[in-house]
Amino acid sequence: MPNQACVRAHTNIALIKYWGKRDETYFLPMNSSLSMTLDKLYTDTMVVFDEAFSQDSFYLNGEKQGEKETQKISKFIDLFREEKKTALRARVESINHVPTAAGLASSASAFAALAGAANLALGLDLDPQRLSTFARRGSGSATRSIYGGFVEWDMGTCSDDSFAVPVDDANWDIGMVIVAVNQKAKEVSSRIGMKRTVETSPFYPAWVESAKKDILDIKAAIATKDFIRLGEITEANGMKMHGTMLGAEPPFSYWEPDSIVAIKTAQALRKQGIPCYVTMDAGPNVKVLCRLSQAETIKEALLEHFTEDKLIITKPGKGIRELTAAERAVYNWND
Ligand code: ADP
Ligand code: DP6
Repeated sequence: MPNQACVRAHTNIALIKYWGKRDETYFLPMNSSLSMTLDKLYTDTMVVFDEAFSQDSFYLNGEKQGEKETQKISKFIDLFREEKKTALRARVESINHVPTAAGLASSASAFAALAGAANLALGLDLDPQRLSTFARRGSGSATRSIYGGFVEWDMGTCSDDSFAVPVDDANWDIGMVIVAVNQKAKEVSSRIGMKRTVETSPFYPAWVESAKKDILDIKAAIATKDFIRLGEITEANGMKMHGTMLGAEPPFSYWEPDSIVAIKTAQALRKQGIPCYVTMDAGPNVKVLCRLSQAETIKEALLEHFTEDKLIITKPGKGIRELTAAERAVYNWND
């Protein structure tokens, strides 16, 4: 059906973090970042453009969203309307198979799915790389969710060349155990948190310098499928990012006591000869990068401290794609 499209995008977790913008209007980052797309966590989004609509509307998980959230979506869809030179209004329905605003990257899958659906519904035919520059304007981390596997977001020099580049399909023995310590919406959003850090933390310039080296090193580790090195760089990079926040004014931290329990558990497993490495984002949840073949063993150890419902095992995920008719039918999204 013309003017309608339904797209799935998976979240991604950065192994080399994006933490700070050099341009807030165009979402240009201070450094290049690199992520792994996740199979288990994703967003499905339907977009319909119709002359009959007098305004945009936005439904998230079946609930009509208020003005603030709808405006955010409208502003994002404006980018596509400008490209198409149309004033058509849209109805957006989105289902998150990931907790919203809880540090599990719902904004990454959300804006990648919305970008993919708007592109198809308007018949823009943007290629994935260009599409990633559009997704970026919704949320920086969404840039990387266009592709599957390991993905680099090249910081670029301007809005047109700050895009995602697929690095490796991650089709080797790699997985992640997510410890959903707390799925409540966070107090300091990543957007506010990174801005405060850039503006006030004396550790920030050192972070940028070190992230530049980390991205080169992690790409070398991926190229040689060196899992241990990949994990070591990932864990160190995440810790450095969280360090910058302690230096901000006022200082802040996303860590909770249970975050430390999860980190200590992973470190103890490592001492027992099971390679696994932690990373955290703008929330208390801990992501344990591991061999997929050892994910169940790691989960067993975590079960001593966390209940089953807080532990999610995932393999690397794929890039964005259209939903099948059967998948659309689940949401009554068939035309
Ligand atoms: P997270 O850690 O989940 O990415 P953020 O605070 O960075 O948290 O982003 C959450 C925000 O992303 C929400 O407040 C909402 O504005 C937006 N968002 C989340 N899911 C969707 C969705 N499916 N469609 C559109 N926007 C969404
Ligand atoms: C810690 O992409 O959510 O998860 O661009 O302002 O929307 P905005 O921020 P967002 O920040 C992600 C921060 C991070 C690290 C990362 O995903 O690279």
